[in-house]
Amino acid sequence: MFLHHLRINDSGHLEIGGCDTVELAEQFGTPLFVYDEMQIRQNARRFLLAFQKSGCPHQVAYASKAFSCLAMAELAHEENLSLDVVSGGELYTALQAGFPAERIHFHGNNKSEAELRMALEANIGCFVVDNFFELEMLHDLAEAYRKNVKILLRLTPGIEVHTHEYITTGQENSKFGFSVKHGQSLMAVKRALAKPCYELLGVHVHIGSQIFETEGFIQSIQMIRKHLDEIRAETGYEAKVLNVGGGFGIQYTDEDRPLPIENYVQAITEEVKKAWNERGLNIPEIWVEPGRSIVGNAGITIYRIGAIKQIPGICKYVSIDGGMTDNIRPALYQAKYHAVLANKADAALEETVTIAGKCCESGDLLIQDICLPKVSSNDLLAIFSTGAYGYSMASNYNRLPRPAVVFVKNGTPRVVIERETYDDLIRKDLRKEVYATS
Ligand code: LLP
Repeated sequence: MFLHHLRINDSGHLEIGGCDTVELAEQFGTPLFVYDEMQIRQNARRFLLAFQKSGCPHQVAYASKAFSCLAMAELAHEENLSLDVVSGGELYTALQAGFPAERIHFHGNNKSEAELRMALEANIGCFVVDNFFELEMLHDLAEAYRKNVKILLRLTPGIEVHTHEYITTGQENSKFGFSVKHGQSLMAVKRALAKPCYELLGVHVHIGSQIFETEGFIQSIQMIRKHLDEIRAETGYEAKVLNVGGGFGIQYTDEDRPLPIENYVQAITEEVKKAWNERGLNIPEIWVEPGRSIVGNAGITIYRIGAIKQIPGICKYVSIDGGMTDNIRPALYQAKYHAVLANKADAALEETVTIAGKCCESGDLLIQDICLPKVSSNDLLAIFSTGAYGYSMASNYNRLPRPAVVFVKNGTPRVVIERETYDDLIRKDLRKEVYATS
């Protein structure tokens, strides 16, 4: 097993955070997201420690889009992370969890006026301004509130990285950010500097997600530094903050070879030191925004197996009680996952099967061709590394209730998100009698 925080106990059951997954499934039902709390904390600590070792001033902002709930925001606060939010909903969650506003950074390519007002009223630490529309609107609002606001400008560096095209963001043809090549970013800097309510902290780049090499980060730092030279020559402005985004890859299957967290941080800090020292400049505060690499490998999903269908000579479909509603990633990005039978975790592998979800879509297949022990209906399947972009992208398609989420630590589980009920599903539906009178 490549996830070293998982083990097999004496009953041959998969164990996470000291809890038997078979017991968790019985106690809380399935499908069930289970997070090893210490694994999340360790991932966070590794980022912070690596930055501390580098001696560079820094902030590590957890990208809450990967998995957001009150308990996660509380944990991020306890671990001294900052928080990247991209919507009023993520901001609301953070504020309700008591997350310190000054460590919240607000992203997004189409923040609404209401969302900007909410963030201004909460006095959040930084807005990552994405486009000219926002640059104007946020400033008008800041003036109305008589507040000074700290901003970063999101730049599109024109860098291509090797990952799925839906999760690359640094390329020039992107809906995000001010394009460096087309002079938009220089213009944005000039406009921001001319506006009295703005304190321009610096610039932001995010090149993509699930990145396995350091090359893309190094290139984008070099590119941004050259661009900052141009900006300095034109305006005299020098950035105090350089935010290089997130995107650090994790292991989903045996084939994935992500680098250790420390290697990414080292590559980034060394490149920044080199580029800034060459110019005799003070090292900027370096910000990163890891999402997947904080929560991804800490989470697993436990499903109960139901129908099994063998098509002789073609395929054996093993159906589970969840699917694309709790994990859209295989359908959306052809993402690959590894799994084991949680109740037969030490049994010999015997057959190759395809794991099918229960939604009315032929594409609702979570894993194609995985080798498992002899599978029976009622067995439990545990899919690994589902902690990022699983629950946060979950839907109620086919009116499936969203699963519960449990944090486990030292053998003790605690529910952090309850399973949705059928009543939750119709809670916002109006009956004929109601809308007839409203
Ligand atoms: N910062 C910015 C500006 C981002 O756009 C993202 C992710 C992150 C940080 C965090 O990236 P991470 O460290 O988690 O890779 N739903 C897709 C991933 C979309 C990522 C969107 N932006 C997936 O399931 O693979």
